[in-house]
Amino acid sequence: MPKLGVNIDHIATLRQARREFDPDPVAAAKICEKAGADSIVAHLREDRRHINDRDIRRLKKTVTTKFNLEMSINNEIVKIAASIRPDEATLVPEKRAEITTEGGMDILRHFDRIKRAVHVLHKKGIAVSLFIDPIKKQIKKARETGATIIELHTGQYDRARTEVSQNRELQKIKDMTLYAQSLGLTVNAGHGLKYHNTRPIARIPGIEELNIGHSIISYAVFVGLEQAVREMAAIIKR
Ligand code: PXP
Repeated sequence: MPKLGVNIDHIATLRQARREFDPDPVAAAKICEKAGADSIVAHLREDRRHINDRDIRRLKKTVTTKFNLEMSINNEIVKIAASIRPDEATLVPEKRAEITTEGGMDILRHFDRIKRAVHVLHKKGIAVSLFIDPIKKQIKKARETGATIIELHTGQYDRARTEVSQNRELQKIKDMTLYAQSLGLTVNAGHGLKYHNTRPIARIPGIEELNIGHSIISYAVFVGLEQAVREMAAIIKR
């Protein structure tokens, strides 16, 4: 059974709508852990659009499961990660204008920089995972960077609109999981996983961890909205 890593970026997105203190991603991390999350994931983006430096310092101190810092291979960010020392770092490609991470890293293209970042992070005792598309040559090259973990990008699977294309994407993830395992890599998966499409991915033998953010935070808004309104109405009306 895979573990669940909960990405709390969008708690911070909501906070940044006001640039004040609420909702606090660190408080959210505590609730996620209490509810059964096996790890907490947060992405310190170069533009700090949601999670900020203070958040990751506090997460490092308070997360009791595993703190997985999502990050680009930008030098400044690698330096910050090396000083914070999360349990794990997941390296992702990052473009300023994108709304969310759009695809896996191109390891063939950025091999030297990725290998250097993996080395710097490993030296600080941080496990390193590479976020990549389920493509054989990317996985093979990922192994050569020295990283021991990969996270297979499930975005294409999520976006498949027909049963045939969804099955094709699912099969790709299954095949590439097996291939990565044959190279000795630990395999995680994530991005775009929702309540209706996670089960087939969770059933793939040997996937260690699923990292899920947006769908959980989106659902949480509705699960909690009724109580939130009731409590405010009670304050006003009593
Ligand atoms: N894994 C990685 C590497 C990601 O970049 C993200 C998005 O930040 C996720 C998982 C979670 O994706 P989602 O928010 O779509 O569940």
